[in-house]
Amino acid sequence: MVRRCGFNVRLMVIPVSDPLRIPGNIIDLFADTTARLGARWQAEYGTVVKLHPQIGTSDAILVTDPAALRYIFQGDTAERFIRAPEWYAMADLLAGECIGSVEGDVHKRHRKGIRPAFGVPETRALLPVFNAIAVKLCEKWENVLALETGDSTVLNISDWISKASLDTFGEVAFDYQFGGLDGHPTELAAAMPTVLLETFGFMSVSQAAVVSLLQYIPMSFIRWVLNDSPTHALDHVRNTNTVSTRIILDLINDRRTMGAGGKKDIMSSILKAGLNDDPSSRLTDHEIVSELRFLLLAGQETSANTLTWALWELCKFPDIQTALRKEIRDAREQKGGKDFTYQELQAMPLLNAVIKETLRFAPVVQNMFRENLQDDVLPLAQPITLKSGKVVNKLPIPKGTKIYASVGGYNMNPGVWGDDAHIFNPQRWMNQDTDSTNALGMYANVMTFSAGAKGCIGWRFAVMQLQNLLSTLIERFEFSLPEKGPKIIRANCMATQPMIEGEYEKGPQLPLVVRRAA
Ligand code: HEM
Repeated sequence: MVRRCGFNVRLMVIPVSDPLRIPGNIIDLFADTTARLGARWQAEYGTVVKLHPQIGTSDAILVTDPAALRYIFQGDTAERFIRAPEWYAMADLLAGECIGSVEGDVHKRHRKGIRPAFGVPETRALLPVFNAIAVKLCEKWENVLALETGDSTVLNISDWISKASLDTFGEVAFDYQFGGLDGHPTELAAAMPTVLLETFGFMSVSQAAVVSLLQYIPMSFIRWVLNDSPTHALDHVRNTNTVSTRIILDLINDRRTMGAGGKKDIMSSILKAGLNDDPSSRLTDHEIVSELRFLLLAGQETSANTLTWALWELCKFPDIQTALRKEIRDAREQKGGKDFTYQELQAMPLLNAVIKETLRFAPVVQNMFRENLQDDVLPLAQPITLKSGKVVNKLPIPKGTKIYASVGGYNMNPGVWGDDAHIFNPQRWMNQDTDSTNALGMYANVMTFSAGAKGCIGWRFAVMQLQNLLSTLIERFEFSLPEKGPKIIRANCMATQPMIEGEYEKGPQLPLVVRRAA
């Protein structure tokens, strides 16, 4: 059925920017500063296209077709597709052996062990903490505004939201004060925000080549290099790893000595999994530390940057921002000024439409990487035209094909979202029953949280944090773009972060004008 080495069908091929071709098109995906490359390739070449593969691999494809993605990520067929080994190596580098760096039954055990922390009641119980930190952020901005002579100020929103998100995560994950908003960051808070950027931001050809080669190197050797090689980026990761491991171990020991004291944070749930008699969900201490370190990385920059992009879009569409403020204020008035419950946040149509549209339009994870364990045939919802001109609605792929699932490419696929797929338009979500549109992915039919048994375990947590923080900020403040503002790019540092063109060394920046809302 499938030729062992290479496709027997002639797919459209994307030209490669790197003539060395060691990392193939990987370098283009990482160096993209628009977060639109997948969508562009799809529009130019089709919903499944052949990439120049990394050295040593025969086939690589970029997929944005909904039926193919369902087949790869959801249901029984998903078991035939593993995360590509080089990506395990990177998760291992950042967090050690954790849910993000294991496969098969071991992955199932890790997932079962941490899943109880992310159920509906557990997530809802965190709302008061989310709320307290959102209010604290507002107070900080009020203080900055009070010192201004005019009625507005320009704030690096990216930095503020990142600090608020880290503080929130510290409290809800392990009752730990990162001190970001108070301006007294702990050593871990100081190390965290730039670790993804320094490790993955603006990957060079040689770095991308190293990533391509990781799959051929035994994990024991990779760990040895990670512990000893003298590169600045790895120094930072190593330092963050050492500090986070020490702090988390101390917190675990404290918790064991003093007891949970009724605490319902993520750590308490995961520690219960460690004591579990059931071997199918039991986690060792070593694994628990890695799990918490991974959660810190997976859950913090992702949510923070999504909110940052939402505020940027709302600056570009001031009418939507005004309508959203009215919706929130009307709801607050009906409540007599009290805090919103989870159900009340869920019941705000425009708030939820803006969040869904931001997740669709500005996904912070741009690509996911899979590899098939056997020869297979991908079904296609949108037929593709081969080089020969033949139109096909299924595609044989040989075992070991590198599969790049482009989140942005799917989220902006006009065949799924209509001709305005490339436009930020929250209106598309109004009057829609999300349950019936949830054909792919964990939430709202977008691929942003991935899908299936390895899909984002924290998606409810992220959505509730977005609902809470966005509603609190928009109710009190008005956001606009600075006059003659700098050019903002979308840097692919595992989580897509805003940066000012030409000021990359300053890290993530999104300067916005902030004033008290009338
Ligand atoms: C807007 C925010 C977020 C986005 C866009 C996001 C996105 C993703 C994506 C795309 C994956 C799957 C990667 C793959 O299939 O290979 C993933 C996995 C994961 N996410 Fe999230 N995430 C977000 C927030 C969170 C939060 C808040 C947490 C936890 C507090 C979290 C924890 C995890 C974990 C543990 C996994 C690994 C799941 C597994 O391997 O079974 N994420 N996330």
